Amino acid sequence: MIGSVAIFVPAISPKKMGKALTLATDTIYFDLEDSVAADQKDEARACLSKFLESSDGGGRCLLARVNPIGSLWWGQDVASLANCRTLSALLLPNADLASVTVLSDQLNRFDSHLKIVPLIETARGLEEARKAALVSSRVAALQFGGEDYTTSLGVRRTFSGEEITYARFRLANLARAYNLDIMDTPFTAIQELEMLAADCRRAADMGFTGKAVIHPSHIDVVRQAFRPGEAEIEKARRLIAAYERQIGERIGVFTFEGAMVDAPIIQRARNTLTKAGL
Ligand code: COA
Ligand code: MG
Repeated sequence: MIGSVAIFVPAISPKKMGKALTLATDTIYFDLEDSVAADQKDEARACLSKFLESSDGGGRCLLARVNPIGSLWWGQDVASLANCRTLSALLLPNADLASVTVLSDQLNRFDSHLKIVPLIETARGLEEARKAALVSSRVAALQFGGEDYTTSLGVRRTFSGEEITYARFRLANLARAYNLDIMDTPFTAIQELEMLAADCRRAADMGFTGKAVIHPSHIDVVRQAFRPGEAEIEKARRLIAAYERQIGERIGVFTFEGAMVDAPIIQRARNTLTKAGL
């Protein structure tokens, strides 16, 4: 649903929202929460509604990040967006079992079509992520939020990200178990594209399906990192060709380029080609 790149855009900025529609991103997260100051919440909500009336997203998946359940603003956020046909889902900050349940019930009251993407970004949210993901059929994907998560843990946040390894592995496993997309946390150092690429590789190697970004310059790096590389694609092709030769002789296991190959390894090669759109 979300693809491999989602960009956060402050809903208070019509200029940035307009710009987002020119970017090669799969998904846009219009933000009513952390990037909007408390005294601008009403203005941002009005800006977003106006923007969504005049745009269909040009094939991109559009989500809005509402304010957290229990905040002063979430009720109005949800009421203004629940029946907006241009949106696909709401991104719910500080998600846990109780808040996903409340949002889902509220959307039911509005007879809304919207899905929910829980933003897992607290220690408690991580503990309850499985229940939160399964409590409502509206849950379509998960988003990890590393900044709030490390704040909630009371630990340092680094660009190399050792402190989020446990949460990432756990969420990636959860998402794969229930066939949900799983989006990684944005990388906040705008100019550090090499560090960004390394950060993407770590997430992709753990099983994340994509990553959120906060700046247009991060889009290409993220997209490339979540797509199999040329060498990987070529190897998958060679392996499948070798397998097809073997299967003609009814052999299930064989040696390919010095390593054993059997069913799961063939499946991985097929997955690589599918991911590459081949
Ligand atoms: N979405 C759309 N356009 C964006 C953008 C975004 N997230 N971030 C920057 N741009 C645009 C700028 O408007 C500018 O456009 P222009 O060249 O047409 O004038 C261009 O990209 C270059 O931006 P730049 O000058 O490098 O950045 P900035 O100083 O304007 O903004 C941030 C820096 C961090 C404030 C901005 O990137 C941003 O708002 N990011 C999203 C923050 C957010 O939503 N956080 C909450 C979730 S973690
Ligand atoms: Mg936050």
